[in-house]
Amino acid sequence: MPPSPLTGEPSRSVSRAARLRGEPRLPGDKSISHRALILAALAEGECLVSGAGDGRDVQATASVIAALGATVERVGEDGLNVDYRIASPGADGLHEPGGALDCRNSGTSLRLCSGLLASLPFFSVLDGDASLRTRPVARIIEPLRSMGAALYARRSDTLPPLVVIGSNRLRAIDFTTRVPSAQVKSAILLAGLRAEGQTTVREAVATRDHTERMLRSRGIEVRREPATSSGGGPVAWSLDGGARVRPVDERVPADPSAASFWLVAGAIHPDAELTLRAVGVNPTRRAAIDILVRMGALIKETRVGGAVEWTGAPAGASGTASGGGGGGAVHGEPLADLTVRSSELRAIDLGPDDVAAAIDEIPVLCLAATQARGKTTIRGAGELRNKESDRIAGIANGLRALGARIAVDGDDISIEGPTPLVGAPTQTLDDHRLAMTFAVAGLIASGSTSIDRADSAAVSYPTFFTELERLRA
Ligand code: S3P
Repeated sequence: MPPSPLTGEPSRSVSRAARLRGEPRLPGDKSISHRALILAALAEGECLVSGAGDGRDVQATASVIAALGATVERVGEDGLNVDYRIASPGADGLHEPGGALDCRNSGTSLRLCSGLLASLPFFSVLDGDASLRTRPVARIIEPLRSMGAALYARRSDTLPPLVVIGSNRLRAIDFTTRVPSAQVKSAILLAGLRAEGQTTVREAVATRDHTERMLRSRGIEVRREPATSSGGGPVAWSLDGGARVRPVDERVPADPSAASFWLVAGAIHPDAELTLRAVGVNPTRRAAIDILVRMGALIKETRVGGAVEWTGAPAGASGTASGGGGGGAVHGEPLADLTVRSSELRAIDLGPDDVAAAIDEIPVLCLAATQARGKTTIRGAGELRNKESDRIAGIANGLRALGARIAVDGDDISIEGPTPLVGAPTQTLDDHRLAMTFAVAGLIASGSTSIDRADSAAVSYPTFFTELERLRA
C-alpha cells in the first residue's frame, strides 16, 4: 500500500466502479462473537464457536479469556472468520491474569469483560490502544461498584486503563442506564450472574439483546418487562444470581453492521445488485435496514435457516423464559438473505431513538443521505463522539472532503442531497467504520478516493477491501 499523503500510514485508493454485482462474504457478528467467547469462559466444559468474526476486536476478547485461564484454540479459519474450540474450568476456575489485559481497539471487549471480572475475586487491568484510552468507563464503574466490586480508572475514574478488583460476594442491583448502551447492560447482567439476588437493568430504549438471548440459550432464566417486543421502547431485564451457565456450541450469524456497508453501496450506486447471505436480522439490530427501506432503498429480504423470530415469553406476566426454546420462548437469532439494488433515495429525519438503534450504522447512513433527495436530519447523535473516534467530526470532515453538503450543530447532523461526490483524500481517524464508509463512497465518487489508515477496517472486517474489489463486475 502507498503511504497516505495525510498521515504517512498505509492508505488505499478506491476508484469509481462501473457496476457492482455479487455476494460479498460477511464476517460473523462482532457483538455475538464477543459474547460467545465470554460465555464460553464462564461455562465449565468445552464448546465450539463457529463462524466468529476474525477481526482484531474479537481476537482481543479471545486473548482476554485465554489470559484468565480458558483454553482457546483456533480450529478453523479462512481469513475472515474463525472457529474457536474453548475449554474452560468455569467461572470458579478462572484465575488472575499475569499482566494487563489488552483490549486493543475494542470497547466491547473492555466493557463486557469488566462485567465478568467484577464477579471474579482477583485483580486485573483492562487496557488498550490510544483510541480505547479515550472511551468513557464511568458508565461501567458506577453500577459495578454499587454491586460491590472495586474499579478504578485514569482521570478520576473516567478513562482506561481500568482496574477491576472483583468480588465473589457481589450484591444484585436494580439499575437504570443513563445512555442507551448494550455494553453497559451486558456488563451488569454478566456481573449479576454471580451476584446475590435479582439483578435488573432498565433501559429507556431497547438496545441489542444478544446477551439476553444467549444467556437464555445457556440455561439462564432472563426475564423481560414488557414480555414481548419487536424492538424499541423502554425495557427492563432481570436475572437471578447463582445459576450456572451451560457450555453451548454457537454458530455466529453474519454481521448486520458489516452488511450495512454493502446495503448502502448497492442502494447508492447507479448499476448495482448485491446479495448478502444469512445476515442476522434481530429486531434490535436491524434498524439500518429499516431506515434504508424508509429512504426508498430496494431491499428484498428472505428469511432463511429456520432460525426463529423471538416471539417473547411463554405464559406468565413477567415474561419468564429459559433456554431450550420451549413454550413460545425461543432462542437463536433470525436470519435473512438480503438483496439490494440501485435505488432512488429520499431524505429522512432520524431522532435519538433511531440513533441508539442504528448506532454503528449512522456513519454509512450519512453517506446514503448524501445521495438522497432532500435534507436528512439526524438529531441527538452525541453518543457517536464516544466511539472508536469522534464519528460526528470524522464523518462530517470525510464526506465534506468528497463534496457532500453536511452541517453539524452540536449533536445534530444535517445532510442535503443528492450531491455528486468527487474523489479526494479522506481521514479515517483509525476508525474501521469511517474507513469502510469512505471506501463505499469511493465506489460512486468520480476519480480516486484515498482512505488513510485503511487497515483499520480489519478491526471488524478483515477482508473488506478484497470483497470491495471483487464486486466490480
Ligand atoms: C455493542 C454495543 C454498542 C455498539 C458496539 C457493540 C455491543 O456500543 O456501538 O459496536 O456489542 O454490545 P454501546 O453499548 O457503547 O452503545
